[in-house]
Amino acid sequence: MKALCWHGKHDIRCDDVPDPRIEHPRDAIVRVTSCAICGSDLHLYDGFVPGMKTGDIMGHEFMGEVVEVGPENRKLKVGDRVVVPFTICCGECDQCRRGNFSVCERTNRNKELADKAFGHTTAGLFGYTHLTGGYPGGQAEYVRVPYADVAPVKVPGGLTDEQVLFLGDILPTGWQAAAQCEIEPTDTVAVWGAGPVGQFCVQSAFLLGARQVAVIDNVKERLAMAAGRGAIPIDFDEESVLERLNDLTQGKGPEKCIDAVGLEAHATRSLDSVYDRIKQAAMLESDRPHVLREIFYVCRPAGTVSVPGVYGGLVDKLPFGAVMNKGLTIRTGQTHVNRWTRDLLQRIQSGQIDPTFVITHTVSLDEGPAYYKTFRDKEDGCIKVVLMPGAASSPGAAPRAGA
Ligand SMILES: NC(=O)c1ccc[n+]([C@@H]2O[C@H](COP(=O)([O-])OP(=O)(O)OC[C@H]3O[C@@H](n4cnc5c(N)ncnc54)[C@H](O)[C@@H]3O)[C@@H](O)[C@H]2O)c1
Ligand SMILES: [Zn+2]
Ligand SMILES: [Zn+2]
Repeated sequence: MKALCWHGKHDIRCDDVPDPRIEHPRDAIVRVTSCAICGSDLHLYDGFVPGMKTGDIMGHEFMGEVVEVGPENRKLKVGDRVVVPFTICCGECDQCRRGNFSVCERTNRNKELADKAFGHTTAGLFGYTHLTGGYPGGQAEYVRVPYADVAPVKVPGGLTDEQVLFLGDILPTGWQAAAQCEIEPTDTVAVWGAGPVGQFCVQSAFLLGARQVAVIDNVKERLAMAAGRGAIPIDFDEESVLERLNDLTQGKGPEKCIDAVGLEAHATRSLDSVYDRIKQAAMLESDRPHVLREIFYVCRPAGTVSVPGVYGGLVDKLPFGAVMNKGLTIRTGQTHVNRWTRDLLQRIQSGQIDPTFVITHTVSLDEGPAYYKTFRDKEDGCIKVVLMPGAASSPGAAPRAGA
């Protein structure tokens, strides 16, 4: 089959690789009909998150049709259409029983690596380094889904791939980021990053009742998209983020701040960004925490900081004194996808949420490598890329050989 494989920094290739096989009785094999490139994939593409090996299959946002089911899997049957959450979960451990699916205790098959890096293991993730299990990802024609009797979400009839694809990652990510803010009707919510995740943070913050939502970025079409949906755009190239946010809140700062940027924050005019670039290049710091610094500084005392943006390792010069003395609450995490999918699916079905608005490019799988660059560089107005493996080699979605 064809799959997008990692071969090093800025080197993703569409390779021919062996078809996946059932390895455990709970597995399923899914023929991928649609998948997407996520902002988290860019951290691997840009070489900032360690633990990738040459030939690893990328992709953790995908959906498709079940073509093979292991004998112990009583949830799925051949022909089911499913969205597969990026977090692999067992459904049985202490964390899964509490709904903390992204920190499932059992699904990371390289548990000892994660124990060493983070103190404790977190869940296995598709296509996301050997630190989270080294599972082949879904930017491929087929994918093996482990524990497939737990997380996959069956898609009701009448919904297109585009409507439900993001249920596996960025839609619940934006929703969880806003939900973790426990928004009150008087709140100003400020969202850093107007990428696909930031867009869903903005939408979710409004749906959860925010008084006003501000969005910070320097990419014009991304700011315009968020502004079109009611947010107040702040272009950090053109104005001071801190001054504008204080102006919007009578000098008090936003009650709720969301970091939807993560470890690759662009250098701004601020001195600390230059410092981070130098330290990161010299391998003295793995992540660039400019956004976190700005948030800790501007967030209103007793406010909440929600961090869906991915960080991989060490950050430097964080003003933790501001966090402590202002009494800020920090909430973060890889998304507990299945905690939110039932509610979000209903909101999609009822028409309250239409996640398709973020899609700017739909291409075939073999065009994927070029579109990693287009997405990373925000060329051609790119906000979200959807890949259709069926269109790459077998138009008309031919059945899987041997299945
Ligand atoms: N927690 C989770 O489970 C989860 C799930 C999906 C994505 N993510 C993470 O969310 C983040 C956003 O994902 P995305 O797909 O929207 O990525 P993206 O790269 O498309 O968007 C990031 C945006 O941040 C903007 N930005 C950069 N520096 C900034 C700054 N200093 N101030 C304000 N904006 C700035 C960029 O211009 C870009 O538009 C990434 O870190 C991704 O890894 C986390
Ligand atoms: Zn993702
Ligand atoms: Zn579990």
